Amino acid sequence: MGRSTSRQFRFGRAQLEARDGESLLAALARRGWPSLVRSVRYHRPRGPMCGVGDCTGCLVRVNGVPNQRACRRPVREGDQVLTENSWPSPRHDLFGIADLLLPHGLDTVHGLRRPAFLTGTYQRAVRRLAGYGHAPDPPASATAAEPHRREAEVLVVGAGRSGRASAEALVRAGLRPLLLERRADAVPVDGAETLAGTTASMLAPPAGGTDRFSLLGFDLDGAGVVVRARSVVVATGGYDAGLLFEGSDRPGVVTGDLALSGVGLPLGPSVIVGSGERARTVVERLGKDAAAVVAFGDIGPELVRTAAELEVPLYPRSRVVRAVGRGRVRALEVARRDGAGRFRLACSAVVLAHRRLPNDQLLFQAGAARSWRDTPGAYFPEVDRRGRTGVARLFAVGSAARPAGSAAPSADELADAVRGQETTLAPSPPELGGRPGELLAYYRELLRERRRGKWVLCPCEDVLLEEVERAVERGFRGLEVVKRYTGVGTGLCQGRYCLPEAIVALAILEGRPPTEVGFITQRPPLVPTPLSALAAVAGEFATELPP
Ligand code: FES
Repeated sequence: MGRSTSRQFRFGRAQLEARDGESLLAALARRGWPSLVRSVRYHRPRGPMCGVGDCTGCLVRVNGVPNQRACRRPVREGDQVLTENSWPSPRHDLFGIADLLLPHGLDTVHGLRRPAFLTGTYQRAVRRLAGYGHAPDPPASATAAEPHRREAEVLVVGAGRSGRASAEALVRAGLRPLLLERRADAVPVDGAETLAGTTASMLAPPAGGTDRFSLLGFDLDGAGVVVRARSVVVATGGYDAGLLFEGSDRPGVVTGDLALSGVGLPLGPSVIVGSGERARTVVERLGKDAAAVVAFGDIGPELVRTAAELEVPLYPRSRVVRAVGRGRVRALEVARRDGAGRFRLACSAVVLAHRRLPNDQLLFQAGAARSWRDTPGAYFPEVDRRGRTGVARLFAVGSAARPAGSAAPSADELADAVRGQETTLAPSPPELGGRPGELLAYYRELLRERRRGKWVLCPCEDVLLEEVERAVERGFRGLEVVKRYTGVGTGLCQGRYCLPEAIVALAILEGRPPTEVGFITQRPPLVPTPLSALAAVAGEFATELPP
C-alpha cells in the first residue's frame, strides 16, 4: 500500500493503517471481528449489526468525541480512536458481571424500595453502571462550527438508486435539485448540488401553500446545516429489520444490510433467516459461507434454486429460538413450527434478511399519513402512484415509500409531479404480497416458548421483553405509554430495531390489533450531536422549535 493512499490512525494503543476513503469499521475489520461496544445497562457484548449507520453496535470515541459510528466515519490521518463504556476493554469488561448478577434485568423504577435508606445508593449505582460514555473532550462548546445554510427549490434526501434516479430526472426536467446523503462517499449527480455525510431531520412542516420545508442536519464533524426547500423528495431507502429471540443482541447477529455492505467483517459460516429475494441475494453474496437458510414459512423458488446450486440446506416453516454464544455467536437454535422438535445449526453469524422496512422518519416528521401493512408487519407512508404523499410538495420514492415488490413511479413521472407542484391526489395503497398476519402468528408462537436468558427487545437501551410484560401487567397500555415507562424506542437507533417488534409484542400482550397499539414519530436529533452544534443553529429555528 503506498503512503499516498493510506491513513495512519491510533486504535487504543495500536498504530493502524486504513486505505484512502475506508471507514473505521472496515479498517478494523481487516484485523478480525472487532469488539467495540458493551451494552448500556447490562454490559452485554455487542457487535456491529448493520454496517450502514443504523444501529449502535459500532460506537467509538474519535478524537475525544463520543458515540461516533465507526461504519460511517472515514478514517482521517492521525485519528485517535478509543472504545467506551467498558473496563478494561470491551472484550474483557469487568462490569459484564452485571449481566450475570441480574438475570431478570434492572428495575430502575421500583428497584430496592426497601430498606428505604438504601434506595438512593441503589439508584446511584444503577446510574453509574449505565451510559454511553463520557462528555466530549475538549468541551464541544470550544469546537462548535458555524452552521451552513442551503436554499433549494427541490431537495432529494438519499443518494441511493431511487434518490439518484429522481435527482437525474429532476435535472432533465430543468430543475437543480439539492441531493443530501448521510454517506460520506456519495457520488455526485451532474447538474445537482450534493451534500454528503449529512444526516437531517424534518422540523415543522410548512404551514401554508408558499412555505418551505425546514430541515436540520449535521455533518460528521457535528457542524449544523439548515436546509429550506420548497419541495422534498424522500428517497431514504429501507433497512433489514431485527428479530426478537433469546440472544438476538449477541455479536454475530447481523442484518442483510451488513452482509451486503462491503464493510468486510469476517462473518464466517452464516445462517440466513429469510425466504425471499433479499435472503437469496445474501446467500449468493456469502457463497460458501452460507451455512443454512431458516424461514418462518415456505421458501421462495428463486432462493430454493440458488441454495441448491450452492448446496445450502433449507429449513422452511421454522422459528429462530436462540443464538448460542456470548462474545460471538456459536450456533443458532431453531424449532420446527409443526412441533417436530428443535435443533442447532453451528455458525458464527446469523444474517437477518426476512423483513425489509422503510426508513420513513422524515415523512412522518413532516406529517405524512401512514397505514399498517400486515406484510411485512410495519407502518408505511401513504403514497400515490406518482410518489405524492398526503402533504403538499412532499414526495416519497423507492423502498422508503412502499414494500418490496410493489409498483413504483418512474423517476420521470415523479419529476413531472414535482415540477407541476400539483396538489396531492388521494393516496392509493401499495399492492401487497405475502400472507396477512404471518409475523403476528410467528411471534405468538415464539412468545409461547418457555423463556430463559435475556430477550433484549430494545438493544440500544437494553430494555428486556419482560420489562415490557411487567409494564402491561401493571396496567400500562399502548406504545407511547410503555415507551415512557420502560425506555423502549428511545435509543440512538431511533427505534429502528425495536419499535416494529415492540408494536407486534404489545399487540399480542394487550390482545388487540397492532394499529391500536399506536406509533411513535422519531424526533431530532437523529445522530449523536454536540449540544454546542444545536446551540449554533438554535437561532435559525427560534420560531419553529417547541418552547
Ligand atoms: S454497524 Fe455501524 S451503526 Fe450499525
